[in-house]
Amino acid sequence: MFNINFPEVRSRRIRKNFSVRRIVSEVSLEPRNLIMPLFVKEGVNKPEPIASMPGQYRYPVKGVNKVIAELVESGVSSTVLFGIPKHKDPLGSEAYNEGGVVQRAIREIKKDFSDIIVFTDVCMCQYTDHGHCGIISSRGGRILPDNDATLEYLGKIAVSHAEAGADFVAPSGMIDGMVKSIRSALDKEGFTDVGIMSYSAKYASGFYGPFRDAAYSAPRFGDRRTHQMDPRNSREAVKEILLDINEGADIVMVKPALAYLDVIKTVKEISLLPLAAYSVSGEYSIIKAAAEKGWIDERKIVFEVLTSIKRAGADLILTYYALDVASWIKEGYCPF
Ligand code: PBG
Repeated sequence: MFNINFPEVRSRRIRKNFSVRRIVSEVSLEPRNLIMPLFVKEGVNKPEPIASMPGQYRYPVKGVNKVIAELVESGVSSTVLFGIPKHKDPLGSEAYNEGGVVQRAIREIKKDFSDIIVFTDVCMCQYTDHGHCGIISSRGGRILPDNDATLEYLGKIAVSHAEAGADFVAPSGMIDGMVKSIRSALDKEGFTDVGIMSYSAKYASGFYGPFRDAAYSAPRFGDRRTHQMDPRNSREAVKEILLDINEGADIVMVKPALAYLDVIKTVKEISLLPLAAYSVSGEYSIIKAAAEKGWIDERKIVFEVLTSIKRAGADLILTYYALDVASWIKEGYCPF
């Protein structure tokens, strides 16, 4: 099958002709597969630049539709929303407030752009005063997120997003059983058509640093290693993916992307569901920083990185570069 011993075959016939390269390329970057993460912040009246993520902003609810219009114009048809509330408390109550910042943003977007697919991040870390992804309890002297107490809240958050008009909810906390509880909470309220994209294989990663700065969501004490995955494991990712599929996930995700291409490839082989990969904040910021110094060609590197994620097997890519990439494609840019 892999015998390439044919003396008459000349690879250059294909390689030297760029139009031919294009028609036989095994994967391609397309705006339709990109999901643009957006931050919406309570209490600001104009987009606020995020220092750790040059080119990204925290948008006011009134104002988010300007960037949605740009996305639609460039061919990107989906976004994932992250809320930054004013008020934080131990139960993260703003996360399920029907008048909360994300719920208002969903309504604002759907009012003008009914076709855009709205995914919402379902987690508590931006909403709790301690910065953990769930309800905290102190059992046996250790202060830890209480998995089972958190599940009920995740269901409430998901339902409040569905009521506001979200198409998909995306639980990101790696809380055991989150997909099952969210699925049953949604179904109970009649939201059987609202889907779940689960952050199934989410690693305890240093690449989330700029995001935590952007969303003020770093834990005040401890870290997320009690529930996020060990970067040394890939079989564990398979286990997590299979659990989420069993619990009713519609789309599964591997996160981060670039340092986990092998995991994306493995998951693609064992799952029949659409697979998303999240090219996270750190992946964005390291490219931005090097590009700002003039050390790399930003567009070329972004295309190469995102293409590698596609080649590994991702169907969808969540990337802060979604809007830029789509507009570069529109201009006819292709570095290959
Ligand atoms: C949790 C969440 C995080 C990210 C997405 N959802 C942060 C975390 O787990 O600490 C990180 C995304 C990124 O780095 O771009 N709500």
